[in-house]
Amino acid sequence: MTRSNLFNSLALLLALGTAPLVQASPTDDAMLQLDAIMADESRRQASYAAGHERIRFCGYCHGEDGNSKRDYIPNLAAQHPQYLFEQFEKFGDGRREDHVMSTLAKALSLSERIDIAVYYSQQTANPRQGHAPALAAAGEPLYERHCSVCHGNEAQGVRDMPRLAGQPAQYIEMALKRFQQTDPQQNDSPMIGVARMLGDSDISAVAAYLQGR
Ligand code: HEC
Ligand code: HEC
Repeated sequence: MTRSNLFNSLALLLALGTAPLVQASPTDDAMLQLDAIMADESRRQASYAAGHERIRFCGYCHGEDGNSKRDYIPNLAAQHPQYLFEQFEKFGDGRREDHVMSTLAKALSLSERIDIAVYYSQQTANPRQGHAPALAAAGEPLYERHCSVCHGNEAQGVRDMPRLAGQPAQYIEMALKRFQQTDPQQNDSPMIGVARMLGDSDISAVAAYLQGR
């Protein structure tokens, strides 16, 4: 169980008061459903097809194949389905805010959120042109020292640790600054502590490095 899932479960138990301690939160049930779909070839194909039907609107910004159309918009291609699914929960319950995404997350049903996460996770991330080679070179050792332990040596991520390779540098910078400004009382993301250790020049360097990965 991730820390945020644990937090959700605790909040739910407190809200319910008398709920038995073994009760799982809706998010945990959904994660189990998602894992079961990913492990079963025919269910995964059905979910992928259903997801494809529902992403027409998303494609305007994130691309039909999950490669984003603008540098301030994240790629969804090859992102882990558990991570994608969890971000809908965060936009939906206010731990993460963006006008469009928060509205959309509340409008999607549970099965739509699962199917869309499955669909985008199966897309291929196109290599993105690296930029600012000197900055990127300065970012590499920073990434290895402070980030690779969670996001992986190839920045490929795992489960709810997002893939970062090939994300636009502009989006990475915005995301790190968003974590710096997030109130740790409202959100238990490990990125809040990580981002607060980084100066502006570290952020530009690590972002330039990741775009070219
Ligand atoms: C108008 C443009 C737009 C549309 C349409 C849109 N998104 Fe987004 N999406 C964004 C932006 C911008 C962000 C980054 C928000 C932020 O700053 O946190 C984002 C973030 C996300 C994230 C988090 C990704 C990450 O790496 O953390 C997911 C998942 C996502 N969108 C899925 C969707 C899905 C699914 C749809 C369709 C139902 C959709 N989006 C439609 C602009 C859009
Ligand atoms: C302790 C593990 C851990 C470490 C160390 C870590 N991260 Fe993360 N990172 C995460 C997790 C977990 C998330 C998902 C956060 C969430 O959902 O709130 C994340 C999310 C992110 C995101 C948002 C991705 C997106 O698509 O929106 C960026 C950017 C990021 N990390 C960059 C970094 C960088 C750069 C470093 C090193 C300076 C780093 N991380 C170190 C665990 C870690």
